[in-house]
Amino acid sequence: MPLDPHDFSKTVLSRIQPGDHVLDLGAGQGSFALMFVEHGAHVTAVDPRLPADLGEHVTAQPVTAEVFCAAPNANRYDCVFARNVIQFLDKAWVQETLFPWFANHLVPGGTVAISTFYQNPVPPFDRPMRSLYTLDELTAPFVTWTEILSRHYEHRGPDMSGQLRTFYTTDLIVRSPN
Ligand SMILES: C[S@@+](CC[C@H](N)C(=O)[O-])C[C@H]1O[C@@H](n2cnc3c(N)ncnc32)[C@H](O)[C@@H]1O
Repeated sequence: MPLDPHDFSKTVLSRIQPGDHVLDLGAGQGSFALMFVEHGAHVTAVDPRLPADLGEHVTAQPVTAEVFCAAPNANRYDCVFARNVIQFLDKAWVQETLFPWFANHLVPGGTVAISTFYQNPVPPFDRPMRSLYTLDELTAPFVTWTEILSRHYEHRGPDMSGQLRTFYTTDLIVRSPN
């Protein structure tokens, strides 16, 4: 059966309960943040390019992930969601700082959901990715956690400018110990 890329967000959504606090890192235009809000969550959305107003249930943090994670942060999240963002960050920082930060800012039994892709850079495009992750690299920090979804797959399709490319996607959804 062909893989459905939407399984990733559907699987995360099925784990969100009303009243949950979700951290959406690299939230973009906020479409996933608003989807979580529709399911009754409160969302903290982090992205330097956030839209001005995402409504009363979204706490907007218009800063980089690096700045957000360096600030004192007493919150613990039921879910940390990082879709299509870690490939734009420094890989050593992600592995040495961001992944441990996730573990330290999650409630027991909380969910970490990471999706990252890499585009074949031929032909060249104007927004190159900095980091490529294997499934083992994504899984390693959470190896003792319960795996919900873990997969690496490739597909061919149009990029943002309509150019046909091969995409390599790695998805991981894990649940922290109780
Ligand atoms: C491909 S978009 C993904 C948006 C959204 N998560 C989604 O899946 O539709 C990548 C986002 O990462 C954000 N981004 C890039 N560098 C970032 C950083 N250092 N910290 C936080 N967000 C960053 C960009 O502003 C952009 O909105």
